[in-house]
Parts: sequence; structure tokens; C-alpha cells
Amino acid sequence: MNASVRAVTRAAIHKGWTVKGICRGFQGLIEDEVVDLTTESVSNTIQRGGTFLKSARSKEFRTPEGRQKAYETFTRHGMDALIVIGGNGSLAGAQDFAKDFDVPCIGIPGTIDNDLYGTDTTIGYDTALNTIVDCVDKIRDTATSHDRIFFVEVMGRDAGFLAQNSAIAAGAEAAIIPEDSTDVDQLAEFIGRGIRKSKNSSIVLVSESPQDGKGAQYYADRVTREYPGYDVRVSILGHLQRGGRPTAYDRILASRLGVASIEALDEGQRNIMVGIDDDHIVYVPFSRAIKMDKPIDPELINVLGVLSI
Ligand code: F6P
Repeated sequence: MNASVRAVTRAAIHKGWTVKGICRGFQGLIEDEVVDLTTESVSNTIQRGGTFLKSARSKEFRTPEGRQKAYETFTRHGMDALIVIGGNGSLAGAQDFAKDFDVPCIGIPGTIDNDLYGTDTTIGYDTALNTIVDCVDKIRDTATSHDRIFFVEVMGRDAGFLAQNSAIAAGAEAAIIPEDSTDVDQLAEFIGRGIRKSKNSSIVLVSESPQDGKGAQYYADRVTREYPGYDVRVSILGHLQRGGRPTAYDRILASRLGVASIEALDEGQRNIMVGIDDDHIVYVPFSRAIKMDKPIDPELINVLGVLSI
């Protein structure tokens, strides 16, 4: 996120524009937490995790009254466009704000979940993926030494990109992802493949699934109950996945999207998210980025299945 704030700031200054930073997202816009951003104020930030502007989830912004207060701050500071960095909730907020007050808004996809339609990837996803792979490499030492099955739960809020791709990258035996769960019992399938016949240990990546509550513990409990004899452990990686130095890939992505957001504004674009498609910058209307489901490529599911025998 810092890399994209830096890019937005410097690209705008390059055009001779003035930039304000809003602390704590939409809540900060409601509460008038606005700072000047200069070339110097974004120095020494590209390598830092988190966001130096701070972030917050704002229930108030979901109400017309909250957005009205935010608009008052917006006009008080003489702002004429808004760039919002975030996931589904943030872009939905930007869409509402744009609709209510006819303000040009540009979105930058920033979420470790990678679940925004219209962009191949989102800022933070690659860093989180690498963190997970690093953790699973370490967990594997215990799994193999003790002949255990580990269910490792990763973030994704009902999106399986982190689980599926970290499973491939870490050489795990399976991934249990929400996108697949409607028509297959992924656990039965995994056990049915006779995992124990060829290997003494297994690692299964499980995507957190707040909607149905079926996380790593749920599958570990099922194995203990339905398939006795396995030595099962659970590891929930949690907020480890949201911190740390961003990868080079994420820094470049954030820099490109930050510059693209300013170019988009300069071209008169509004109410779109800038994204990456086949390594090219694209503009995706908010309505599509937010509403459409981004599917997991079945090829990835096949690759894991083929390689985990
Ligand atoms: O949407 C991004 C995300 O990192 C999800 O993967 C995760 O479920 C959620 O945020 C965690 O949010 P919080 O830090 O508010 O618990």
C-alpha cells in the first residue's frame, strides 16, 4: 500500500497537481484526518509493510449521513478527485461516494485475497503468497519428522487464490477452497486418493471460509472423527500474512497502478478500477470489479492434483 501511495503522490506532483493523504480511509475522511503529501513525505516508504496513512473499516461511511460528512471534508480541503486503494469494500464505498456526489473516483486494487474481477492480481497478494510458502516450508519439517497431516489455514475471505497457489508453490498435497466446496467433498476426495499409501505426511492448505465456518479446524476434526489413525495438527497463519516487507513484484505492481490511476484521472476517466490484464494496464468499471466473481482457473486445480500424487 505504501508503494502505491508513493506512486500516486509522485505521479500527481509530476503533473503539477497537489495531493492530500486521508488517514484511516473513509473513516478519516468523515473525521477530517487529512495530511499534505509531498515528494519527501513518501520517501523511505516503498519497502515498508502496512500503510503509513493507516487504515480502518468504516461502518459510518456505509450510511448516507456518513458519506455526507465525508463529502464536507472533501470540499473543505478543495479536493476534486479521490483515489481509493483497497478491496471489495473500499471500491464499493468509492462507487457509492461517486454516485452520491458526482465525484471522480479511481480505485486501485489492494487486497491479499486477489478476489477483484478484471485484474490478474492485486497489491499485497504476492507478498502474502510468499509469506505463506515460507511458513509452510517450515511446517513441513514437523510434518515429515512426525508423520503428521497438517491443515494450514490461510486468509482469503471466501476466495481460494492464496490457498490454491501456495499449495502449488509449497508442494502441498491438497488445497481446500471455497470455490470448489459446493459440489465436491474435498476432504473425502483427498483421503480417497489414498494419501497415506504413498506418503507418511501431508500438508493441506485450507482457505478461511467465514461464510460457512469451515476452516482448518473443521477438517482436522472431521479427519480425527471419520478417519481415525491419522496424527493431525492445525496451524492458522492469521495476520502474519498481512505484514512484512513487500516483494519486488508487489512494489512494481503498486508503482504501476499508482501511476496508472493518475493517468486515468488525467484522461477524464472516473469510477473505474485500474488493473493488470496480461501485463497491460486496464480500466475496469467499479460495477464489474465489485460485482463479478473472479474464478479460479481450473488449470491450477488440475496442476495441484497432478503433482500431489
Ligand atoms: O480482505 C482481506 C483480509 O486480509 C481477509 O483475507 C481477512 O479475512 C481479513 O482481511 C482480515 O481482516 P481483519 O484484519 O479486519 O480481521
